[in-house]
Amino acid sequence: MTDLARPLPGTFLTFEGIDGSGKSTQAKRLAATLQAHGHDVILTREPGGSAGAEEIRALVLQGDPGRWSAETEILLFTAARRDHMERTILPALEAGKIVICDRFADSTRMYQGLSRGDLRQVVDQLHRQMIQREPDMTLLIDMDPKAGLARALSRGDDDNRFETFGEDLQTKMRAGFLKLAEEFADRFTVFHGDQPVDSLATDIERAVLPQLVAA
Ligand code: TYD
Repeated sequence: MTDLARPLPGTFLTFEGIDGSGKSTQAKRLAATLQAHGHDVILTREPGGSAGAEEIRALVLQGDPGRWSAETEILLFTAARRDHMERTILPALEAGKIVICDRFADSTRMYQGLSRGDLRQVVDQLHRQMIQREPDMTLLIDMDPKAGLARALSRGDDDNRFETFGEDLQTKMRAGFLKLAEEFADRFTVFHGDQPVDSLATDIERAVLPQLVAA
């Protein structure tokens, strides 16, 4: 089987955080900043980021909250991620680009690994087998769960199956992400999400730019 973890010239950055933490806005801002510094950047997201994975996105994010068991979700998210890796992420890293991904495997470790019982080992096993690769750098936007949930629900889009699980889930996810940041301290940086968009964007730039080889 192809070695998905092989060394490649590009840089793989991921954003993580609870729903409504402002990741997507910051991911866009960072992509624009890095492009302005002359880097070749692709901005992508999970679930999604390739044609097949976008189809799986609708299956997992829309509809009845009880539609899938946690185990089935792990398989669906991992299938989407494998396609995204093969078709979008690895080719870009191979071409030396910076890949910025809005959510990745840490979201599965949290949402499927923690939300309904302890399935973290299953997530990790499947990850080792099917995905293999971890990001070079993960930017966690930490945020008050109540504020995050209010922001997420006010968007009123269709992809909100997890948001309907409510504030308890958000609180659990926040604590889980902070623990994950300690577990993978070598690649995680934690940012405070409760601040104006511009100042958060500046904090993120200051953390990322020195880590990149000049374009
Ligand atoms: P996203 O589109 O990033 O929503 P938001 O911008 O509100 O954070 O993610 C959609 C949802 O998918 C989010 O509620 C978390 C969930 N999710 C998982 O449960 N597992 C996963 O592996 C991923 C990538 C996302």
